[in-house]
Amino acid sequence: MKKVIITLLAALLWLPSIADEGMWIPMLLKRNEADMQQKGMKISAEDIYSINKACLKDAIVLFGSGCTGEFVSDKGLLFTNHHCGYSYIARNSTLEHNYLANGFWAKSLEEEIPCPGLTATRLVRMEDVTKQVLDGVTNDMNEVKRNEKIADNIEKITKKNTEGTHYKAIIKPFYYGNQYFMYVNEVFTDVRMVGTPPSNIGKFGGDTDNWMWPRHTGDFSVFRVYAGADNKPADYSADNKPYKPLQHLNVSLKGVEENDFTFVFGYPGTTNRYATSQAVDLAANVTNPIRIALRTIRLNHYNNAMNKDAAQRLKYSSRVASIANGWKKWQGESLGINRLNGVEKKQAFERKFQQWANDKPMYKDVLPAMEKNYAILRNIELKNTYFSEAVVASDIMTRATQLYKLAITENNATIEKTVKDLIKSNENYFKDFDKHTIVDRAIFIETFCNMCQAGFGGFVANKDVDVAKMEEMLGKIYDNSILTSEKDIMKLLKNYKAKDSKKILKDPAVALYLSAANNLLSADDRKQYTEVKNEINRLYRLYVKGMMEMDANNVSFPDANLTLRVAYGHVEGFKPKDGVYYKAYTTLDGIMEKENPDIYDYVVEPRLKELYNTKDYGQYANTKGELPVAFIATNHTTGGNSGSPVLNANGELIGLNFDRCWEGTMSDLLFDPNYCRNITLDIRYCLFIIDKYAGAKNLIDELTIKR
Ligand code: ARG
Ligand code: GLU
Repeated sequence: MKKVIITLLAALLWLPSIADEGMWIPMLLKRNEADMQQKGMKISAEDIYSINKACLKDAIVLFGSGCTGEFVSDKGLLFTNHHCGYSYIARNSTLEHNYLANGFWAKSLEEEIPCPGLTATRLVRMEDVTKQVLDGVTNDMNEVKRNEKIADNIEKITKKNTEGTHYKAIIKPFYYGNQYFMYVNEVFTDVRMVGTPPSNIGKFGGDTDNWMWPRHTGDFSVFRVYAGADNKPADYSADNKPYKPLQHLNVSLKGVEENDFTFVFGYPGTTNRYATSQAVDLAANVTNPIRIALRTIRLNHYNNAMNKDAAQRLKYSSRVASIANGWKKWQGESLGINRLNGVEKKQAFERKFQQWANDKPMYKDVLPAMEKNYAILRNIELKNTYFSEAVVASDIMTRATQLYKLAITENNATIEKTVKDLIKSNENYFKDFDKHTIVDRAIFIETFCNMCQAGFGGFVANKDVDVAKMEEMLGKIYDNSILTSEKDIMKLLKNYKAKDSKKILKDPAVALYLSAANNLLSADDRKQYTEVKNEINRLYRLYVKGMMEMDANNVSFPDANLTLRVAYGHVEGFKPKDGVYYKAYTTLDGIMEKENPDIYDYVVEPRLKELYNTKDYGQYANTKGELPVAFIATNHTTGGNSGSPVLNANGELIGLNFDRCWEGTMSDLLFDPNYCRNITLDIRYCLFIIDKYAGAKNLIDELTIKR
């Protein structure tokens, strides 16, 4: 009896606690407030997102088109990751002023470097606009009609909401179109580069350590947003003033301990939380392995070249970083899904759903139809993957694509513009062509051979192709194409007339591109692809709706879609495999442990070593006297969250999110609290580098530091 009462009591006292999985909508955060506070948060949902007062959301921006940044001063100073600023740092670097290699620190506003094309987007307000978006949409509409109607409505709503203002509005679907939110934004177009550590710090560990824990990457860079005299967005002008944000983040030097509450506020890009078993299987066991194999080929060639000299390193680093990033993540993702028996788990849920749906006409055919459509999709995705990872993997083929587009252009004005652009890009291309052509030729030949051996790509596609013969044939195509002769291509472009399209189409590389593309994906395939994707999207809309009806707990948060979200969790280590436990934080000691002057990724800057040797950590040391570098926590994040502020219970900045642990990268599809950890750069290491390493006291003085 006593036991029964205790169990009953326990059940009554048990508050539903939401697991750490989830990327929550700021406007609806009130729903999570109690849970967040129970887990340690000391501020309110209103402090995070409010339309009535300045709040934390005013300090957050979408940095460029795929990262997050945050204001840390009242003069528009912005922190983000080094890898988010990377392409701008690279673009402003030359061998003489190599900011990538040596770092850069503006000592005054005048020294800050404009970054044309870079934007910072601040959310002004958001609103649920489901009713207006779905106005006039009926159940009997097919997807094409439905999408047209929705696009129409969206245009009207966004126009109405921005007319007469400098705002830009976008509307995004949630839960596969069961709900719509509008985001009214302010887009700043004058963003300047202020500071970056050298790559030895900002990219320490490079692609070897990427996605891995324990981690020691000082992954930050510093920018500044400028505005017109009225503090509103303005295109670059020397007269622009630093933007004064409504709110900037306070920086805390207190650090965090295991189990401390943290939250991440930023722009996660894409997740597929509600994917079916077929989708999970397709990713883990079909497309990921192909992508990985083909990227291995490219990476081997680029890495060999990069290890030869500094010029080639500079040339390839940006593209290698991006190729290697997906390459490694997909490996972790596939392993993670299979470790979790992800496909079987999804199947088990689908059986439950089907049982529930059997007597509901609206839902009973959803999963069988999913299965049918995924069978078709699987086939086309296979080919798509070969197209993007093999056919257009080399520069000669991407350039053949451009040339082909020119050949089929009819509008004279477009032809003229395209030719002009092509002349410019070709001038650049041939600057260091001799070394590059060796790399590109090898990539071209090897990726094509791989695809053909797998039975794809049309011409002589078969497992028993005579590889030597094929290499010879591809080599000839490479050498004989106008695309590999500066003289020939420039001659063609400089006097280009519409009738020259014939010459283009006869070029062996362009012809190969066309035949491979058409053999892989016929016009029918492409048509079918659109149809199947539309149908699958419709089915997901029903599936997710059904899941909610079945049990509201099935669907707790919407998939990431590059809109502002809050994820929360706590600092915690994890057990990646039997016998190993990963602690939750790393220190400068680990950098010295990894140091290896012979390996590019592990070279330690002399100045950093000096600071290490004298233990000159100042106010940035933790209570044990160590200099913390990074920590992990259970926040649910994904690509796009890079640069996101990681905040403590008081809403103060304690770090910059920059990665996830490799063992948990399946979290885009399946979140496992035992393995999924986000990786954060400890703000104390970031400030230590700015202050002690670079001596950029001017930047430290701008911050609001809480001790
Ligand atoms: N893995 C991180 C992300 O997904 C960092 C990528 C950049 N770093 C690199 N070594 N490639 O964006
Ligand atoms: N590095 C990623 C980014 O650029 C974040 C890592 C992740 O995918 O979680 O957004």
